Amino acid sequence: MSLLDNQLGIGSGPISVEPLISPEFFELEREHLFKRVWLKVGRIEEISKPGDYKVKRIDVARTSVIIVRGKDGDIRAFHNICPHRGNKVIPETGNETFGHARANVMTCRFHGWVFATDGALRSVPLEEKFTGFDRACHGLRPIHCAVWEGFIFVCLAAEPETDLVTFLGGMVDHFGGYPYGESTCTFRYSTVLKCNWKVALYAFTEGYHVPTIHGATLPGLASLEHTEFKLFGPHSTSTLYVPPVEGASPTPATGALGAVLHSSPRHAPRLDELPRGINPTRRIDFQFEFPTIFPNFLLHLGAGNGYPGMTYFTHEFWPISVGETYWEGTNYFRPPETLAERVAIAHTNALHRNAWLEDTGTMEDTYEALTSGVLSEMPLMDGELMIRNSDWHIRRYAASGEKGN
Ligand code: FES
Ligand SMILES: [Fe+2]
Repeated sequence: MSLLDNQLGIGSGPISVEPLISPEFFELEREHLFKRVWLKVGRIEEISKPGDYKVKRIDVARTSVIIVRGKDGDIRAFHNICPHRGNKVIPETGNETFGHARANVMTCRFHGWVFATDGALRSVPLEEKFTGFDRACHGLRPIHCAVWEGFIFVCLAAEPETDLVTFLGGMVDHFGGYPYGESTCTFRYSTVLKCNWKVALYAFTEGYHVPTIHGATLPGLASLEHTEFKLFGPHSTSTLYVPPVEGASPTPATGALGAVLHSSPRHAPRLDELPRGINPTRRIDFQFEFPTIFPNFLLHLGAGNGYPGMTYFTHEFWPISVGETYWEGTNYFRPPETLAERVAIAHTNALHRNAWLEDTGTMEDTYEALTSGVLSEMPLMDGELMIRNSDWHIRRYAASGEKGN
């Protein structure tokens, strides 16, 4: 029986190709989706000390955002634009820029206005030459910012339609309570893909491609069971289990290095740490939880059980234009304490990086072919349910501006 026989209310037919290639649809997404919803922009460990900041470009909203930890320890977000004549207060060195505000101030290099890490304008060279000037009116422009389980989100709307927890809905309980903050050993990959952001997102939100795309490099995944789908408004989640495949043994290096991590108290699988709703029967062939946090964030929670030692990994998909996407993937581990653990973690990370190279290898071809206009719609199977849910809610936002949950 098809999952869609359950009448999930998100359609059951083929989905339209138009949202993946239309410049007009992209403009609707820009105004009615990305400028309205909560967007994940970082982790608290990235800005752990007062004065630490991260600047994140959000091209789709034509802005860049300073996320900074203040002297008081609070995390705030501001548009990276100087209220004098609009220069970027923090010059960017890439899609993301990290730095530290010495003495808890940030200085615009154009004319030297100085801002505190709470956004207040502290000093202005030749201030007496401005007529009727009130410093209190010229602080950095704030952006709504909230933290859930150490993940930092911003909402670019003047007034968010809901708070972050309400926006995340059922995902809060489903993913809450895991010790994400202990995994401070990270490996980050990013690239600009010549494809629509949803082409990239959708390729990472189904398991249907695994036996084909990853058949040669990850033959042990051939028995993949993609199941336990749940929809929480625009968000969705599912679980991947991998029953053992007879005769499919890991390479000697993968077997030996995996054993190093599986026997380490710091890196061994910890199914007991999973939130109760994830893998509730604690199956030992659990690979990882596999969600879409609407609209562009994936949080894959494995508790070290799928990829050895890897507690979780994330994806972000940031639109640049209708046919360009900044993709970022990050693998999270607890820190290694021995050389053997360090080598084993590097090996797990390399295995996963190779899989990502295979994944990203399809996306530009897919997008280029779709722009031909030959296809107007795509059929989806049950395992592509999360694509259907995203498509349904993205179209709702783009068309009507209604709330998605
Ligand atoms: S634009 Fe920043 S001080 Fe003038
Ligand atoms: Fe994949």
